[in-house]
Amino acid sequence: MVQRIMVVGAGQMGSGIAQVAAQAGLQVYLQDLEPMFVNRGLGVIVRNLTRDVARGRRTEEEKAAILGRITGTTDLAPAAECDLVIEAIVENLEAKQKLFRELDEICPDATLFASNTSSLPITQLAAATRRPDRFIGMHFMNPVPVMQLVEVILGIATSDETFATIKGLAEAMGKTPVEVRDFPGFVSNRVLLPMLNEAIFCVYEGIAGVEEVDTVMKLGMNHPMGPLALADFIGLDTCLSILNVLYEGFRDPKYRPCPLLVQMVQAGYYGRKSGRGFYVYDAEGNATPVKRF
Ligand code: CAA
Repeated sequence: MVQRIMVVGAGQMGSGIAQVAAQAGLQVYLQDLEPMFVNRGLGVIVRNLTRDVARGRRTEEEKAAILGRITGTTDLAPAAECDLVIEAIVENLEAKQKLFRELDEICPDATLFASNTSSLPITQLAAATRRPDRFIGMHFMNPVPVMQLVEVILGIATSDETFATIKGLAEAMGKTPVEVRDFPGFVSNRVLLPMLNEAIFCVYEGIAGVEEVDTVMKLGMNHPMGPLALADFIGLDTCLSILNVLYEGFRDPKYRPCPLLVQMVQAGYYGRKSGRGFYVYDAEGNATPVKRF
């Protein structure tokens, strides 16, 4: 039974995971390296809950109770008290392996480890620990409080018991868990990224402009966001790194990243987070499509 968890990484994904876990009644430590990162994550949670109260979705008392269940920290040591640690740090294999090695020393044997990685192999991360049977992928979608799906990824050594616990937990968080095997891109990004890449190729080859490509997919396929707006939302650097994982993992040219995507990342155009991608974003987040690349 999972009652107390630590979420490592208080960025967009980590703060969202901490929020939905606290909403489900869990005690949550939200950890990051610097107090500034922790406070930024907590600030996002406060804003989300305040909007929920304003919309009549929950009361002030519920908001206070949820916030009361979240403790910000820069220390990893409280992971020793936790039933589960969910990692949501930078998408870097070495950084994640180092973190899990450290957590493996801190935590008792019974503590489960989950990674929110969007594309790194769960089996390889698990191998950095002495508990590969109690290691699993818990891939939340952005924005976490809104999106229904949690892709639950079983590494080669993940036990049925670990899966059952994590499946139950995802359901308690109000999410729909889907069981997936540990191969490049899992299901979500194996299907999504080639579509985003193809949309970028359409712009690169001059077939249509940014707004036109997005309008086709929004109005023609009922997607809530066009693929280029979604690529900006995910982060173009993240999109490129996932495509590279697919390309290298399968050694199949169908996953080759579009040269325009590579060039934009080289330029530091990372999408919404850097203020420029396929759209330019002003301080209020309003987007204007880029006309020429
Ligand atoms: N945090 C919390 N709530 C949020 C939010 C956020 N970051 N962004 C939007 N919301 C809420 C809004 O508050 C709003 O709720 P209320 O108005 O009732 O308060 C609701 O979501 C809808 O938002 P908006 O009206 O502002 O805009 P929208 O209707 O266009 O919805 C969206 C926004 C939910 C993001 C929608 O555009 C959408 O579903 N986009 C696609 C998102 C998607 O595909 N995500 C997956 C990305 S891939 C991924 O995450 C995996 C990976 O590994 C790369």
